[in-house]
Amino acid sequence: IYSHYQELHAHFFKSHFTGDLMNRISEDVSRVRMYTGPSIMYATNLLVLTVMCIWGMLRVDPYLTMFVVIPLPVLALTIYLVNKIIYRKSEHIQAQLSALTTTAQETYSGIRVIKSFVQEKNMLQFFNKTSEGYRKSAINLSLTEAIYFPSMNLFIGLSMLSTILVGGYLAIKGGVSAGNIAEFVIYINLLMFPISSIGWVASMVQRASASQKRINEFLHTAPEISDPVQPGDRKVIEGRVQFENVSFTYPHTGITALKDFTLDLPAGSKIAVIGRTGAGKTSIVQLILRLYDVTRGVLKLDDQPIQAYGLKELRTQIAYASQDTYLFSDTIFNNIRFGNSEATREEVLEAARLADLDKDVSRLQKGYETVVGERGVMLSGGQKQRIVLARALIKKSRLVILDDCLSAVDTETEHQILSNLQDYLKDRTTIVITHRIFNSWKFDRIIVLDHGEIAEQGTHEELLRMNGKYARLFLQQTSLSKA
Ligand SMILES: Nc1ncnc2c1ncn2[C@@H]1O[C@H](COP(=O)(O)OP(=O)(O)OP(=O)(O)O)[C@@H](O)[C@H]1O
Ligand SMILES: [Mg+2]
Repeated sequence: IYSHYQELHAHFFKSHFTGDLMNRISEDVSRVRMYTGPSIMYATNLLVLTVMCIWGMLRVDPYLTMFVVIPLPVLALTIYLVNKIIYRKSEHIQAQLSALTTTAQETYSGIRVIKSFVQEKNMLQFFNKTSEGYRKSAINLSLTEAIYFPSMNLFIGLSMLSTILVGGYLAIKGGVSAGNIAEFVIYINLLMFPISSIGWVASMVQRASASQKRINEFLHTAPEISDPVQPGDRKVIEGRVQFENVSFTYPHTGITALKDFTLDLPAGSKIAVIGRTGAGKTSIVQLILRLYDVTRGVLKLDDQPIQAYGLKELRTQIAYASQDTYLFSDTIFNNIRFGNSEATREEVLEAARLADLDKDVSRLQKGYETVVGERGVMLSGGQKQRIVLARALIKKSRLVILDDCLSAVDTETEHQILSNLQDYLKDRTTIVITHRIFNSWKFDRIIVLDHGEIAEQGTHEELLRMNGKYARLFLQQTSLSKA
């Protein structure tokens, strides 16, 4: 289940909550496990005992056996009906438990926001409401079960009573002996436990099947981005990227992020993509990484459509420093090495040096062995960004994409990193996405993106001469830095 989740499409995780996924992977799985273990054991026990007891009873007196056996079909029907109710309620309860887990999980991971907006009380109320709903359904289910189990015992008691009544009558008439009746009572007692466990087993089976259904729901969700059926030999990506009239619309929101976008990036070239927020810059990257497929047009890597590459070979060969700085709750060292699990210690330190992390890390008591806390809560925004940068650089890919990855560092550090990178990036195709103009860097081309379309493009000088959006932005930034 876990590995299937990992293969699923990016927007699957946008439309399903972590709490729900977690619940299905733990709670639902354990319910199914209850079914395969104890349920099967008790069911076997029941079957064997029933067959043997009935055989024993028939040997003594078929007429009397009838009285014991007649209530059984009624019992079976009742069990069937009640279990349908239990099934429906179980499904509902599992859904509510998922909602509860999601709420708790969101609260704790967003605790800093909640505290700073003083929303603890509201969140608590919300949580209380969700858990109250869960409590009510759980009690409701227990109520059904509370009526159900004693009723089963009542049935058994009635069966016993009728045996003694009819048996007593027969004994008076002289058909059977008192010993036979005692024998019957013992048989019924033997049957008592397994029959009352029918209810328990059946309810377990029902819960398990409700859970199995929830598990299957996601297991049957096929990954939308498919790997080519026969991935060719591992192709080394040289780094040419071509967009040919690419349009891209996000499938579940219908937002068109790129319109008729055409761009040819020769291997080894450097471009900057500038544009205001929401212009579609990150969407370009999502397409290159094939987190999404283009809606129209063709995206080629080294003159081959991107779909020709296996997902793994594609993604391992692209170094991407993402805009959102997600770190794992592990050491700084391991977070950097995450980019390339075969990297040596020297390589990790080299990547950290390129990202200008050294001076920050040397101030930490445990240095690179410092654990960064959940999602990196113990680090500053700029520090996280630079770890993410180092994590990308350590891949040493031919294609490097830096998505707004220096937005939170000061200009001095930024200069330092850019000059560190000059050499590293020399032969690598580089796409730098940014809001700030890096005038210390010479880009082969600068693209100004606006509403998913290229508004202007050219070198720094050409764009300044055009006197358009770029020139305006440049003027704003230089006057700002002078002021
Ligand atoms: N996962 C997504 N699902 C649906 N729509 C999205 C998704 N990601 C982005 N969008 C939409 O696509 C458009 C372009 O977003 P994109 O992330 O490419 O912008 P951006 O240029 O990177 O902005 P920023 O500078 O703020 O990072 C936006 O209108 C955004 O709302
Ligand atoms: Mg972005």
